[in-house]
Amino acid sequence: MTRSAKEMDLHVCPYQIAFILDNWIRRLLQPPTRVVGEYIRPGNTVIDIGCGPGFFTIDMAKMVGRDGEVIAVDLQEPMLDKVRKKSSKHGVDGRIKYHLCGKDGIGLNKEADFILAYYMVHETPDPARFLREVRQLLKPDGKLLVVEPKMHVGRRSFETMVEKAGEAGLVVLGYPGRKGGRGVLFGRTSTP
Ligand SMILES: C[S@@+](CC[C@H](N)C(=O)[O-])C[C@H]1O[C@@H](n2cnc3c(N)ncnc32)[C@H](O)[C@@H]1O
Repeated sequence: MTRSAKEMDLHVCPYQIAFILDNWIRRLLQPPTRVVGEYIRPGNTVIDIGCGPGFFTIDMAKMVGRDGEVIAVDLQEPMLDKVRKKSSKHGVDGRIKYHLCGKDGIGLNKEADFILAYYMVHETPDPARFLREVRQLLKPDGKLLVVEPKMHVGRRSFETMVEKAGEAGLVVLGYPGRKGGRGVLFGRTSTP
């Protein structure tokens, strides 16, 4: 069943304009190796939450190698379809799993070495709940990179999100630069 953001009455980036998220200009401005390369090792389990058309998913699947896996998560099935089409073209289809999540929760049972939430936390209806759920998906020494677009997320809103993450059991490891927006790297506390 194909579900679109409009059908779910959500204010998310619609799949019809996915082309703005995957093109050569973005590749020049936000090369995946620069954004996520330092966090991913061969054999890792990676979750790309709110993967969209897979701009980062495909490169991360190359980074984890044959023994790793990337779970592409989105609430719009047409976005996941776009990733499926690209993955076979790039020869990484065996390394990518697909998870269509609901608007009220991720509903994934997995533990990841690295989770990417790129330009998507501000689209979630309840960021505090979302961040609590994401924390549960991290391995004890796992890392979560959140990057938010400066155009849509002001400094104060970003700080509020970081505060909510703290309450959700995430701990700030740093504010890495040159990630293409307002970026923060989290680890997790031992207790939620
Ligand atoms: C602006 S796009 C960014 C896509 C991708 N991360 C990128 O950087 O190219 C945001 C994506 O997050 C997805 N999204 C929004 N809210 C979500 C949620 N609560 N759970 C999963 N995906 C969500 C949207 O469907 C959309 O594909």
